[in-house]
Amino acid sequence: MDCIGLTSESPYVIMLKAAFLIPISHYLFGFLFLLIVFLYNFVEMYFIKELINGFRGQSVSLTFNSCSNLYQEVVSKCKILHGRFSSTPWLCSPHFQTIFLQFFERVPACNYQRQIFKTSDGGTIALDWLRNVDDKKPSIKGFDGVQSDDKTPIVVVIPGLTSDSGSAYVKHLAFKMVKSGWNVVVSNHRGLGGVAITSDRLYNAGCTEDIRKVIDHLHAQYPQAPLYAVGTSIGSNVLVKYLGEEGVNTALVGAASICSPWDLLIGDRFIKRRLVQRSYDRILGIGLKDYAELHRSVLPSLTDWDSISKISCIRDYDKHVVCVLGNFETVDTYYRTVSCSSYIRKVGVPLLCISALDDPVCTRETIPWDECRANKNVVLATTQHGGHLGYLEGMTAKSLWWVRAVDEFLCALNSSSLNHRAKIQNNRVLESPLNSSKEKAV
Ligand SMILES: *[C@@H]1O[C@H](CO)[C@@H](O)[C@H](O)[C@H]1NC(C)=O
Ligand SMILES: *[C@@H]1O[C@H](CO)[C@@H](O)[C@H](O)[C@H]1NC(C)=O
Repeated sequence: MDCIGLTSESPYVIMLKAAFLIPISHYLFGFLFLLIVFLYNFVEMYFIKELINGFRGQSVSLTFNSCSNLYQEVVSKCKILHGRFSSTPWLCSPHFQTIFLQFFERVPACNYQRQIFKTSDGGTIALDWLRNVDDKKPSIKGFDGVQSDDKTPIVVVIPGLTSDSGSAYVKHLAFKMVKSGWNVVVSNHRGLGGVAITSDRLYNAGCTEDIRKVIDHLHAQYPQAPLYAVGTSIGSNVLVKYLGEEGVNTALVGAASICSPWDLLIGDRFIKRRLVQRSYDRILGIGLKDYAELHRSVLPSLTDWDSISKISCIRDYDKHVVCVLGNFETVDTYYRTVSCSSYIRKVGVPLLCISALDDPVCTRETIPWDECRANKNVVLATTQHGGHLGYLEGMTAKSLWWVRAVDEFLCALNSSSLNHRAKIQNNRVLESPLNSSKEKAV
């Protein structure tokens, strides 16, 4: 009887009736499952891949010139760069890696000593020192500009966009390097680290003047101390551009570039492409807008404050602030001019570059593989995962892989013959400023 009754009805109605017979909780479970699958993919998680892998991580890939002394004498001795990077199991996503560090990380305490550095145009830069001999503190406190014969190597840190000495990853790096016997100085960008802007200029991705002055100043004040530098994100673009401009003439003995944007034009296109990337763009854009507005009263050449108050992405900021202050015709002109990828071939001192292929802010598409391979002074280390300056590892996510890698690299470089040779070269160059040595170094 039932069968006859059923067949007279439309099959769709039957389906609907059948659908109503399924308990609502089953639908909820189904929906939840789909949502989890969607979110898992949306945040690019790789937990299952790692689970199957036994959380061993992926090996680090090194790109370098086959006759590179830097590789033979230094990097070949670095165990970390020949090992694997294994993400914290509950942070198996480039976004979790990137965001966790900014908001939740318990950071080591760093009691910086501040030195105020004035540039020739009247600008103010806060140099935050963390020294490895704490009991000597009182004698160094004054920073009276007197030459010091301290031989402890110094590492200069150049932070990323809107970051300063207080940023979690900077503290991680400073803390680690000091523990390994280095003196660390964070060169805060203009207007960051809580100092006022005192001239009509802000920092940008191509501003190498400030870091040049800071490095020359440090070299003059501590002529006995070998100088190294670590740049992160935008700071890394500044550092590599500076190294390319200087060739072997820099007072730096070696450097490391971490999560560099490499090519700002490609980076700009990338960060506008997907919803996830656009949220980073927005967060950074708003951070930059706040930075400009904070210093509004001392920036008379900026007039269009209406547009500035509406800034919601990096490109807007570059258009309304950087291009106006830096006299760039268009934003793309600015990006093309200052991108460090076109300077990497001229770098004349040992340089380690680290990039994560899943960096959600600085895309892998910009990595200058060919140029890194062509320059004997450069070794490029890439990892599958790590996010942007994240690289959190261990169950408790207390350690950053790139910080350990940089520490090991700089220590190996400091005790290698490349250090010695670079120093002789530097001294000679500084004694007689040869014009042509920049080109010879290539
Ligand atoms: C750097 O090298 C010098 C000379 O080999 C050594 O005395 C010093 O301890 C090293 N410093 C660090 C921090 O590795
Ligand atoms: C450097 O170059 C300038 C002009 O290009 C020249 O006048 C000067 O003599 C050069 N100095 C040295 C040390 O070669």
